[in-house]
Amino acid sequence: MTSNITFTMIKPDAVADGHIGAILGKISEAGFGIKALKLTQLTVADAKKFYEVHAERPFYGELVEFMSSGPIVAAVLEKENAVDEFRKLIGATNPAEAAEGTIRKLFARSIGENAVHGSDSDENALIEAQFHFSGREIF
Ligand code: CMP
Repeated sequence: MTSNITFTMIKPDAVADGHIGAILGKISEAGFGIKALKLTQLTVADAKKFYEVHAERPFYGELVEFMSSGPIVAAVLEKENAVDEFRKLIGATNPAEAAEGTIRKLFARSIGENAVHGSDSDENALIEAQFHFSGREIF
């Protein structure tokens, strides 16, 4: 069974590069509704916890440092088959391999600073949404 919810972050690179409005526009044009939205910043401890599944990867330290380096936009999005649909919209993790027109192709700097996060499963979408938002912040 698929869920209609996914979780995203507009990462520090895309916020610093002034792409919040353009990325939210792409998300909206693609038919996603917004169920929760905020500008926030992860502490080092938050970023370690959020990405703890990657703790053994060689890029973990770099990832934690980058994700806590500046403000992000966190959002919960709604659409039928949201996780898969959103991953199609953002494109491959490495922007050099991302399809034309995808958010990462348009706005990402590199594989590490890749503009947006998208949940990889329905289960993680719920966990990630609850990591960032309280019940009364999700509509
Ligand atoms: P994201 O979808 O947020 O989930 C894990 C993140 O790890 C990924 O996006 C990238 O930002 C980062 N990442 C994955 N592979 C690499 C890599 N080879 N080098 C640096 N960062 C990476």
